[in-house]
Amino acid sequence: MAVSGRKAGDDAAVSGALAGLRLRPGYLSSEAQRDLLARLRAALAEAPLFTPVMPRTGKPFSVRMSNLGPLGWVSDAEGGYRYQATHPVTGRPWPAIPDILLQAWREIGGYPAPPEACLVNWYASGARMGLHQDRDEQDFDAPVVSLSLGDTALFRIGGLRRSDPTRSFRLASGDAMALAGDSRLAFHGVDRIYPGSSALLPQGGRINLTLRRVSPPG
Ligand code: SIN
Ligand code: MN
Repeated sequence: MAVSGRKAGDDAAVSGALAGLRLRPGYLSSEAQRDLLARLRAALAEAPLFTPVMPRTGKPFSVRMSNLGPLGWVSDAEGGYRYQATHPVTGRPWPAIPDILLQAWREIGGYPAPPEACLVNWYASGARMGLHQDRDEQDFDAPVVSLSLGDTALFRIGGLRRSDPTRSFRLASGDAMALAGDSRLAFHGVDRIYPGSSALLPQGGRINLTLRRVSPPG
């Protein structure tokens, strides 16, 4: 896959450590993006963005987060990375995952059981996310399905070891992706956001939504 520096999804063949990576540029129409954003605004009024901190060091993430669904991903200095049924600040259950996201999970993820968590990441213009694996789930057979809204991000993905070579490509508003198959446990992160690249969010910034199955079906 030679996606560096240009729009993802032009490449049909994805091989090696990234076999199973599915890219759907422009998956959400402009109308669907606006509709999803309205639903997210309502959900975030119920479950406000919070700033997670790293295990042990307590260093804050530059990305602010919330969740939708029966479970949500959280991180703090004492408890580390984990899923829990309630918001760490309000103590309330997370809002439901909207239908449009459940549909994306079915269409792109193609997994027989529904997602249990949808992590909402909010990136201000200077925010980034270091290389990491999504491995706090018990079920790695299920994909992680990602949808992006707002400013374009430079996304980086490598292999199963942190030191493996990486490739990078841009994720724009409305793009969808699934980390499935061999790419499910690939190291990935976000190097930067391109301010002003989308008019969807009036104040700028980027929202990324990742749908996850936490426990094995049944
Ligand atoms: C994540 O890995 O949780 C988010 C990736 C992204 O923002 O595209
Ligand atoms: Mn991740």
